[in-house]
Amino acid sequence: MSLTAVQSATRASRPSPRDRAGVGARASRRAAAACLGAPRRTSASRTRTPARRAQGGSRGWTSPRAAFTGALPVPNPGEASPWALEAEDLWLTHGERGAPGSVDALRGVTIRVPRGMMFMLLGPNGCGKSTLLRSFAGLNTPWAGRLRVQAPRAFVFQNPDHQVVMPTVGADVAFGLGNRADLSDDEIARRVERALAAVNLGDGAMADRQVSTLSGGQKQRVAIAGALVENPEVLLLDELTTFLDEADQAGVVRAVRRAVDDTGAAAVWVTHRLEELEHCDMAAYMEDGVITQVGSGDFIRGYIRQQQRAYAARR
Ligand SMILES: Nc1ncnc2c1ncn2[C@@H]1O[C@H](COP(=O)(O)OP(=O)(O)OP(=O)(O)O)[C@@H](O)[C@H]1O
Ligand SMILES: [Mg+2]
Repeated sequence: MSLTAVQSATRASRPSPRDRAGVGARASRRAAAACLGAPRRTSASRTRTPARRAQGGSRGWTSPRAAFTGALPVPNPGEASPWALEAEDLWLTHGERGAPGSVDALRGVTIRVPRGMMFMLLGPNGCGKSTLLRSFAGLNTPWAGRLRVQAPRAFVFQNPDHQVVMPTVGADVAFGLGNRADLSDDEIARRVERALAAVNLGDGAMADRQVSTLSGGQKQRVAIAGALVENPEVLLLDELTTFLDEADQAGVVRAVRRAVDDTGAAAVWVTHRLEELEHCDMAAYMEDGVITQVGSGDFIRGYIRQQQRAYAARR
């Protein structure tokens, strides 16, 4: 695809907040095709060994085994890549490949996420969403395929108790900057303030608040602020709202939406909740280790409802 085509697909897939819900069908299809990046796999092709093994070295790509640090190659001199994240034909097995009990969790995932986009990933339990997200974060290592993720990237876990570790909110949000000798105390305080404001906790008193006194949703937003403080290009968020009540859930998803709009970071948001799709720019559906659908939030919601109806009719 030419860069112009990529850019127009990116523009088409990034409507203004006002018309986000009403992406034109043609523009949406074009954006979805660009995000999928390759023809959809058939069930027959899923079972084949991937044609291409991780090689690395080709321009703009790196093997999943390589760490992603610093600046990444760009498609044309002087032009930043329009993609926050590009994955091509990723394969990952939990356990030793071919050994009894091993699980082929990723079976040829191809997906692209444009910069500055709130991108949601849905799919049935065990289809590979967390495995894929952890691969984007560098926490899992695919054995084949190619992956490029803009740096820096930040991962937020489902349970904030695994991430929010300091006694006060301010100390926790600043925690990730602890090894940044280049930042003055004033700059750290400014960044903490900005990150808390981005998740709607910027009332001034929040930084001194004891973490133990926060609600689940507030704690989750502190975890997100702790990720934002490092100015990530890519935010990776795994089912943040599972344990939250309705009000906290809405607050957290809106906080991420706002952070994406304010900072220009891209967010990949894994969820089971169809109602959250209204906050996304684009979404994908995953089944059995592959991405099978990419489209607008409305399209993915409609697809899932159709699957649910078909399942109910078969029972
Ligand atoms: N550490 C692991 N060791 C072995 N198998 C694993 C491991 N992690 C995940 N799996 C298996 O890999 C497959 C994909 O799991 P994954 O957690 O990625 O799914 P998911 O789509 O996130 O599911 P859920 O919606 O329940 O969170 C599942 O069959 C799961 O049992
Ligand atoms: Mg999961």
